[in-house]
Amino acid sequence: MSDGSSFYITTPIFYVNDVPHIGHAYTEVAADVLARWHRQAGEDAWLLTGTDEHGQKILRTATANGVTPKEWADRLVETAWKPLLQTVDIQNDDFIRTTDERHEVNAQKFLQHLYDAGHIYTGEYEGFYCVGCEEYKQPSDLIDGTGEFVGQQVCAIHSIPVELLHEKNYFFRMSTFADRLLALYEDNPDFVQPAAARNEVISFVKQGLSDLSISRSSFDWGIKVPWDDSHVVYVWFDALLNYVTAAGYGHDDEKFSRLWPATHIVGKDILRFHAVIWPAMLLAADIEVPRRVFGHGWLLVGGEKMSKSKLTGIAPSQITDTFGSDAFRYYFMRAISFGQDGSFSWEDLSARYQSELANGFGNLASRVIAMVVRYCDGEIPTPTVFSEDDELIRATEKRATDAAGEAIARLAIHEAIAAIWELVDELNGYITIQEPWALAKDPANRARLEAVLFTAVRGLGTLAVLLSPVVPQATAKLWQALGGTGELPDVRIDQAWQWTGGTHVSPLEALFPRIEAMVG
Ligand code: ME8
Ligand code: MG
Repeated sequence: MSDGSSFYITTPIFYVNDVPHIGHAYTEVAADVLARWHRQAGEDAWLLTGTDEHGQKILRTATANGVTPKEWADRLVETAWKPLLQTVDIQNDDFIRTTDERHEVNAQKFLQHLYDAGHIYTGEYEGFYCVGCEEYKQPSDLIDGTGEFVGQQVCAIHSIPVELLHEKNYFFRMSTFADRLLALYEDNPDFVQPAAARNEVISFVKQGLSDLSISRSSFDWGIKVPWDDSHVVYVWFDALLNYVTAAGYGHDDEKFSRLWPATHIVGKDILRFHAVIWPAMLLAADIEVPRRVFGHGWLLVGGEKMSKSKLTGIAPSQITDTFGSDAFRYYFMRAISFGQDGSFSWEDLSARYQSELANGFGNLASRVIAMVVRYCDGEIPTPTVFSEDDELIRATEKRATDAAGEAIARLAIHEAIAAIWELVDELNGYITIQEPWALAKDPANRARLEAVLFTAVRGLGTLAVLLSPVVPQATAKLWQALGGTGELPDVRIDQAWQWTGGTHVSPLEALFPRIEAMVG
């Protein structure tokens, strides 16, 4: 990690047909933790999120609700999608809507460029379309319907019937990019992650790619095809372009060259769009491909992918109202291996809140600060002689700092937190063994007491710095109680073990208060 280098990270832009659930919040938090980490490592980090507002899915939802699609999108963005960012404490640098003029105009420029370069032709297509996915499906993507859809073929993801469409459309010559894509995956093994996702993408492309239908003429809620206004741009082609239009493509070259290429964080449901279609579009336009595309797993409820359409959605505020945004962030980043599916349960959330956040971390902070207040009048001691046990804590602080940074570079957020938690656990063990309350009983042990309390305070300072991207609110309070210098997010995370705390502690309220009525 070098000072000033740029780290441009994106989330998917979410469909505004419905309100967010914790699956969307999960992606936001993961991207935000990575962005905060890189920012705190001195990089020029830039987090983009936003909303996907065109296409048939949104049009139908708006129509069913008796408003225009733009009115519907405005309402959902203001009442649901932007508030989500507050709910889970996201520090995004930009929010793009595909109905923004900066997007529409520059997406058209991109398309015109591909057309002029001969990558687009007129053709006909007939196939089964899933409006939930906004995608033509292959027969192998379909399963037999159940319940009200018995006897029909339904989308395996959405469990809703597909529609047979026959259209005269514009096509992107995606098939011509298969070899270059395979070379990209080969030469750049980190391009698609995790490894299982990469293998799946490679075998998909090895089967050969078809050309992609990129316009629709049966409805008009979309960006107009610049050379034929009887067509609108296919919603996925439109949506993927947000990553470059928001970064200045077509209108701010300086910004674009500073930010691009991006790291894309997406759910595995939309990995192919990002790992196949998107780089093919960029190759056609002679633009650098993304730095990497990471497909995370699904949050499962009762063994199924959480989704609004299947009525298994949980609103993020249902969790944050009780546990707070820090606990939301910590829980999902810690409990689920980033890249794998994870089952959500209230029991697991409550148990980890109590044992890891409240008892493990929060209590450690309160006890240490209370002892400095009680035994040293709040003044942080400045010992000069340290025991082997103290040095071991010092070594763990350095190890945790390095291991966490290395895990974050691999996008292994859960491993980074696990590495940091070794310090939490060791500090708790250290306090138990050193028994500062016993040392305090005899003035002859004063030097030893001061070394122990200083070591514990410095360890807490290291924890505050390292955990700041994950639990920004609790760590800010802790940093303040430790008299830390400056704002915590400005303290270099790659040097977290270097004590830059203050001279005096101040009282600290419980970082993770006991939750009386556990939700069931
Ligand atoms: O696909 N577990 O938008 P979308 C984890 N507009 N993550 C989940 C999830 C779950 N159960 N459910 C949803 C679209 N997500 C397009 C994207 S990008 C150019 C266009 C998250 O509203 C996850 O990030 O259907 C998933 O990829 C995304 O929401 C899909 O959001
Ligand atoms: Mg979806």
